Amino acid sequence: MISLYYLNTESKLMTSTATAHTNIAFIKYWGKKDTLFNLPTTSSISLTLNEFYTKTSVTQSGETDQLIINDTPADSRRIHHFLNILRENLGDFPALTVNSHNHVPTSAGLASSASAFASLTAAVTKDIGADLSLSQLSRLARRGSGSASRSFYDHFAIWHEGIDDQSSFAESLNAPANLPIALVVAEISSSAKKIGSTEGMNRAMTSPNYGTWVKNSADQLIDMKRAIENVDIEKIGAIAEANALSMHALNLTAKRQPFTYFTSETQQVLALVRRLRKQGILAFATLDAGPNVKIITHLESAQQIIKELNITMPDISVKIATSGPGISYD
Ligand code: PMV
Repeated sequence: MISLYYLNTESKLMTSTATAHTNIAFIKYWGKKDTLFNLPTTSSISLTLNEFYTKTSVTQSGETDQLIINDTPADSRRIHHFLNILRENLGDFPALTVNSHNHVPTSAGLASSASAFASLTAAVTKDIGADLSLSQLSRLARRGSGSASRSFYDHFAIWHEGIDDQSSFAESLNAPANLPIALVVAEISSSAKKIGSTEGMNRAMTSPNYGTWVKNSADQLIDMKRAIENVDIEKIGAIAEANALSMHALNLTAKRQPFTYFTSETQQVLALVRRLRKQGILAFATLDAGPNVKIITHLESAQQIIKELNITMPDISVKIATSGPGISYD
């Protein structure tokens, strides 16, 4: 419990707004050791992205919590559940209308839940007058979506897996500023039935290779920190790709309902990444809970990669992102 009661009576009919950018994990979170508190089996490292963000406003109004996404009323059950977790932690507060504007292309395969829950946590705590540190905000946002814990910080963040609710939160990773890193996002649309991250993780954890993945991830985390400190983008990319591909191998080798997020277009982009590398272009791939490939590269090679993608796969749309800012308030 962070505080007993934070209701700010003066802000009752006011609207509080916060903006959070999404993040891409270079060392992934892919499995929960505690589903109630959303504690991960591994620590993870991410880069916050400049291009993609969610702006969320909350207003104390109505009888029940309500959600509006991009000006359209949406199913509010997940948000209501999360707001009740905030009420348990911060003290009771009235029903909220949550107005969320997503600037994360839905097909880009970038987790909009990260920026959505981070911005919501920040907007609510501002609204009720709770003055929390970034790590306290991160800890709370984790309960809405694990990856949201990392979206409070600019540049690189590390989410410490922790051993309980108190100790599992993200903080800023002390990384050199102006790291010339870019992410080229190849948007592959998929008509395949989506498998949400929680279901995907549950299945992956039944893989006989899961324990090895957790163990390797701890070593990759140490190597990744060093590569970031050394501004070694090639190493960052190589470790991130190894981590991501072994995460996806867990999905294929799951004992219960094995599956893959990859499509034939995913394989085509991965083949292109390997070809570019052979040609001496710095390019490494990472993928999340979907078919889209995000190519990690040096800022100066990004345009060339986009050109190659446009030639090889003219039908897919491509976006570019670099390091982005932490949480902000209007
Ligand atoms: O936070 P969730 O439940 O959306 O899970 C995110 C899982 C990955 O995006 C695949 C990996 C990560 O660490 O962000």
